[in-house]
Amino acid sequence: MFGAMSAVMFGAISSAAAQTDLADQIAKADLGYGEYLAGECVTCHRKSGAGIPQINGIEAETFVIIMKAYRSKDLDNKVMQMMAGRLDDEQIISLAAYFSSLSN
Ligand code: HEC
Repeated sequence: MFGAMSAVMFGAISSAAAQTDLADQIAKADLGYGEYLAGECVTCHRKSGAGIPQINGIEAETFVIIMKAYRSKDLDNKVMQMMAGRLDDEQIISLAAYFSSLSN
């Protein structure tokens, strides 16, 4: 079902069932809660921030994988490790649902 690249990319997710769960959780996520949580993200992540990537419109499951990788320190950025370290799974999913709903 998945190619090698996808298998690597979805390595954070242990099974197809877990992935379906994630899609399901994203579909049910509270956008208002995501928007509320996004308040502290957009101080850096503005539409045209110098040197800071634009995060609007990142596909939701990818967004979750990125945030969990910062949280587990698999991705290397001190600020983002700290930001993600304060978030639980529900908060990350709400943020993913919110940012993926925005146009980039
Ligand atoms: C103090 C500034 C700052 C804040 C606040 C911040 N970020 Fe970041 N974020 C960054 C920087 C800088 C990078 C780029 C890191 C790198 O290139 O290694 C980044 C990268 C990211 C990425 C990866 C984007 C990509 O294209 O690779 C995501 C997703 C992200 N941040 C989400 C968030 C979320 C969600 C929040 C709020 C909970 C947040 N950030 C708060 C500075 C910030």
